Amino acid sequence: MKRFLILVVTAVLLCGCSDSKEAGKDKAPEKELITVGFSQVGSESDWRMASTTSVRSAFEDGDKYNLIYDDAQQKQENQIKAIRKFIDQDVDYILLDPITESGWDSALQEARDSGIPVIVCDRRVAVADNDLYTAWIGSDFELEGKRACEWLKRFFEAQGYTEAVNIVHIQGTLGASAQIGRSAALEAAVRENPTWRLLDQQTGEFTQARGREVMEDMLKHFGDRLNLVFCENDNEAYGAIEAIRAAGRKTGTDIGNGEIMIVSFDSTRKGLEYTLDGTIALNTECSPLYGPRLTELVDALERGEKLSKETFVEEGQFSIYPEVSSTFIDGKNYEVMHLTQEVIDERAY
Ligand code: AHR
Repeated sequence: MKRFLILVVTAVLLCGCSDSKEAGKDKAPEKELITVGFSQVGSESDWRMASTTSVRSAFEDGDKYNLIYDDAQQKQENQIKAIRKFIDQDVDYILLDPITESGWDSALQEARDSGIPVIVCDRRVAVADNDLYTAWIGSDFELEGKRACEWLKRFFEAQGYTEAVNIVHIQGTLGASAQIGRSAALEAAVRENPTWRLLDQQTGEFTQARGREVMEDMLKHFGDRLNLVFCENDNEAYGAIEAIRAAGRKTGTDIGNGEIMIVSFDSTRKGLEYTLDGTIALNTECSPLYGPRLTELVDALERGEKLSKETFVEEGQFSIYPEVSSTFIDGKNYEVMHLTQEVIDERAY
């Protein structure tokens, strides 16, 4: 495979040495850079910006890597074009954060035919042949959703709240792993909890603007009946909060007295600030900080090592309410962290 070559310009050139023999003697050796093409989803959320920063800064070592970054602006066709461009550029590796799970077979087959390993990160691809990609690293989105729903169930039990809970659901980009997993968990919890009623589901595209629009629409339709908004990311929650306030409604956990309870995902700094003041009742973390892990995977492939097919990142959960300090899911205990300003101050994103 072709490698991107850089010539380290020597001090000899800078000092204007005219003797070519001398200049040759002082010249640093040529270095081979590892060229990596990264196809990113877009810039739809605070989480996404943090993920871009994490990957770019991890690969910013200009003596080792040459990162070619492509922003797909939330369009799968742009990601497919980017993969084809990376193949034409004969990159050494492709990093792909896929917008949706389906529709990757042909593009990934082309990468494989060109001998370029593809590392998938964050969201997943659903392909007929899993050998079309080398490894995946990201979140267990369904587990995130299950943790949120289990917390809600335990919270209502602790409060002795037995009335109906009318839920509206602002989904992420339809077909994205983060949407599929979190939605599946909520839908299962609604089936299992007889007092939970799912009034409506609409996509907020993981953006604040769309989250607000969808929430406005839901408030118009369901008015005072609405008790809980399940937002699939923090930006949708910011939009929902704006709409709830503009409609003169209050956010909070006192749903028996008309407050609207909000749960969210990501745990960005701003999302946690809303969680600290009680606007968001529960925030389940989704970590965007996998840039350094991606360099480790590339380095391991450079050494000829075989990678694990799947790597799940560890994630937390935050609330100010002491009623539920842990949840128990599929035989495992998960801590719910009591949120403080210090936690937010230490936050990397
Ligand atoms: O795939 C991760 C999700 O995508 C995050 O929850 C969301 O904020 C982002 O846009």
